[in-house]
Amino acid sequence: MNGTQILLGVTGGIAAYRACELSRLFIKEGAMVRVVMTAAATRFVTPLSFEALTGNAVHSDIFEEGSPGEVLHIALAKWAHIALIAPATANIIGKIASGTADDLLSTVVMALPQSTPVAIAPAMNVEMWKNPILQKKLSYLTGLGKYHVISPQEGLLACGDVGRGKIAENETIVNAVKELLA
Ligand SMILES: Cc1cc2nc3c(=O)[nH]c(=O)nc-3n(C[C@H](O)[C@H](O)[C@H](O)COP(=O)(O)O)c2cc1C
Repeated sequence: MNGTQILLGVTGGIAAYRACELSRLFIKEGAMVRVVMTAAATRFVTPLSFEALTGNAVHSDIFEEGSPGEVLHIALAKWAHIALIAPATANIIGKIASGTADDLLSTVVMALPQSTPVAIAPAMNVEMWKNPILQKKLSYLTGLGKYHVISPQEGLLACGDVGRGKIAENETIVNAVKELLA
């Protein structure tokens, strides 16, 4: 993964902490990682953790002051060789599928060049996962060819329920990203 530029989108679920190790694993493999967090994600993990782990500034605000003449969401979208959203909430999946661009992460995803793949690692409660609206959105996204869903596992979920919804293992996510880049 030497020199691969990975845009890591982190959304607001308990599994946000897993993205910390994930960013580290990519860096160990020689990739560069820039993290975009949703406002909800910052309630679970601090941007500082990702800044320390990746050596890059973390962004969450679409109106953040950047370099003059640079539009942050477009610059991030052009920079990425691949975008990975891990964990991906039901909310961000719905937003991507409907073309909503109302925060930095969803706007960057909308602005990605069509050739840039997007890997999505959902994590949520089992009933959210089974919700036919979510499943329909995932099928729609998968059908577009650009979006790739890394299926969650079955198991004991953070909320105490048992079922599918647990984010895939980090090793599975890293391998899926490698395959998409190959
Ligand atoms: C303790 C807690 C845990 C949550 N875990 C998840 C989760 O694992 N998956 C999910 O889709 N939503 C989860 N949510 C709900 C999201 O945080 C909520 O839908 C939020 O609007 C998502 O915003 P975002 O997609 O912009 O990050 C959780 C909320 C709380 C309070």
